[in-house]
Amino acid sequence: MAAKRSTMHDDEGMRLSRSRPRPDSISPTAHYTGYVWARNGLGDGALATARGKWYYRALQPAMALSRMAGGPVLEDFLLARHRVIDHLLSAAIDAGQVDGVLELASGMSPRGHGFARRHGSAIDYVETDLPDMAARKRRALDRIGSLGPHHRVESLDVLRGHGGNDLLALAGQLTSAKGLAVISEGLLNYLPTDAVRTLWSRVLAVLGRFDTGLYLSDLHVAEDNRGPVDALGAMLLGRFVGTGLHFHFTIPEEAEKALSATGFDPVRLHLPSAFAERVPDANRPAADRVRVISAGAPRR
Ligand SMILES: C[S@@+](CC[C@H](N)C(=O)[O-])C[C@H]1O[C@@H](n2cnc3c(N)ncnc32)[C@H](O)[C@@H]1O
Repeated sequence: MAAKRSTMHDDEGMRLSRSRPRPDSISPTAHYTGYVWARNGLGDGALATARGKWYYRALQPAMALSRMAGGPVLEDFLLARHRVIDHLLSAAIDAGQVDGVLELASGMSPRGHGFARRHGSAIDYVETDLPDMAARKRRALDRIGSLGPHHRVESLDVLRGHGGNDLLALAGQLTSAKGLAVISEGLLNYLPTDAVRTLWSRVLAVLGRFDTGLYLSDLHVAEDNRGPVDALGAMLLGRFVGTGLHFHFTIPEEAEKALSATGFDPVRLHLPSAFAERVPDANRPAADRVRVISAGAPRR
């Protein structure tokens, strides 16, 4: 992906997509990531699906070739982003800054189960996704007995709801929390720039209701993904999900500026390798294809 060092007001030029995808066309990726988490010992495997295993196996030859060519390897940056987000969330909970978590587009991720099991009634964890995926997740979590008053799964389309009312309504269920973390993992690069900006404004409005607010997410910027193999991988994945892959920002500083302009403070875009000493998998060869956003939200 040839990345220019200039602000992009419109990501059309960086978008590789079919037009008008259905919102749930991204959902198959949650099966793939769910299988990656399970095969690497994250969660107890109960959330992995046969479909995820099939996707994983189908992509293995391409991933092996990409690794040989020094290109992107999904498993590397998926694990890196997931573990760094876990690490930052754990740190905020342990520091007493966060006692409520609202995870957007949680797919078949084991994070909610893991944190709910570890922290029990000390935190409230609400996972959300599109209706079909949320129902699948609820069934899977129900089977392993994870759900209860402190761990729930709700339907939420992050692109719907006027003025963020759906998100605000869900956050309203977390009234006992003093500090809230909102997480969006594996979502932003499937959304066009205007949707990301709208989502960030909604997240900020939600977080501003709490004493402390923390936003954690992964984000791919063009500069970190500009080799020819990266471009091919992005095109194929974008076509598979039908939404395209969007590189909204050329360099990380642009994303930091956009988050600051939205009202987040402080704002950091971390490279996973910065955590190599403390976080497993953060130093995998292709880990730094992704950045991890950690952004605070002032109380309003
Ligand atoms: C790549 S998966 C990531 C799942 C999970 N966060 C993980 O990292 O394993 C993308 C997820 O985004 C969800 N998704 C796509 N569009 C969405 C939307 N408009 N609102 C909420 N979730 C959405 C999909 O259903 C899917 O579960």
